[in-house]
Amino acid sequence: MPGLAKILLTRRFPEAVVARALRDYQVTLNADDSLWQGDELVHRARRMDGIFLSSSNKFTADVIESLPECVRILATFSVGHEHIDLDAARHRGIVVTNTPDVLTGSTADLAMLLLLAAARRAREALEMVCDGNWSGWTPTQLLGIQPAGRRLAILGMGRIGQAVAHRARAFGMKIHYHNRVRLHSEQEKGAVYHGSPEELFQRADFLSINCALTPQTAKLINRRTLSLFPDEAIIVNTARGAIIDDEALITALRSGRIAAVGLDVFDGEPNLHAGYRGLPNAFVTPHIGSATVQARNAMGFRALDNLDAFFCGKSPVDKLT
Ligand code: DGY
Repeated sequence: MPGLAKILLTRRFPEAVVARALRDYQVTLNADDSLWQGDELVHRARRMDGIFLSSSNKFTADVIESLPECVRILATFSVGHEHIDLDAARHRGIVVTNTPDVLTGSTADLAMLLLLAAARRAREALEMVCDGNWSGWTPTQLLGIQPAGRRLAILGMGRIGQAVAHRARAFGMKIHYHNRVRLHSEQEKGAVYHGSPEELFQRADFLSINCALTPQTAKLINRRTLSLFPDEAIIVNTARGAIIDDEALITALRSGRIAAVGLDVFDGEPNLHAGYRGLPNAFVTPHIGSATVQARNAMGFRALDNLDAFFCGKSPVDKLT
């Protein structure tokens, strides 16, 4: 029965989610939203049956191996799960769940915001106005790039990639994509499939990164692959920062070889590469892809649904291990 289970909430989660957790479980909260890692996480997990965690908590093999025997499930409040060593969890017989689907729309919306912001030089425009440097309208001020008629290359055509494609079609963009598995034609909706990321990059007037971080995609955007893009391409990343080699991208942005980027995720978050800070053609946001009230509540409820299923002896829908 959920009511008897003891659950640790590792961060301060949305109010409605916490209220439901408190209704259904014996809950231990993180009142000041401290970022618990390593030994502290292990210590906090004492006497817990399950852990409701976020992508900011690293459940490495060491942490998982040290967890007390009583911990039987890790329910992450995220679709991404690279912060959890799944093999170590499997080895310990710990169930891991995530929250797919419910943040698709909000993440795709943000990808469009970044795409438009990068294309329309929103950072320079904002800084000009806010810094008091706008001396008035001129015919050649801050000329950007119009997406209509351009090719949007989507790397990773899962739920979020398809939602980005849907939005981009309304802006008149032509969709190209690469995915491990080619979509059925009714899902492709006319999008052009490319069998390798390299082939895709050659067509990328714009690139939206929507794939998972895996050993195959880590640093996939690097000096070699950047040389394949058409001149003045625009790159948007709402997936994971480590898919990009920052040094290589910053060099390409400085030279103008890549016209602009819109980035919501960074390698080593929150310590993004300092090179992005001074670049007018880098429009950056602090990992807010799923940051809408609707999406964050839905993520929390989905994580709780998984816990409920588990503690009622059923298989959670989003079971990863
Ligand atoms: C996710 O759900 O993976 C988001 O990026 C938040 O971590």
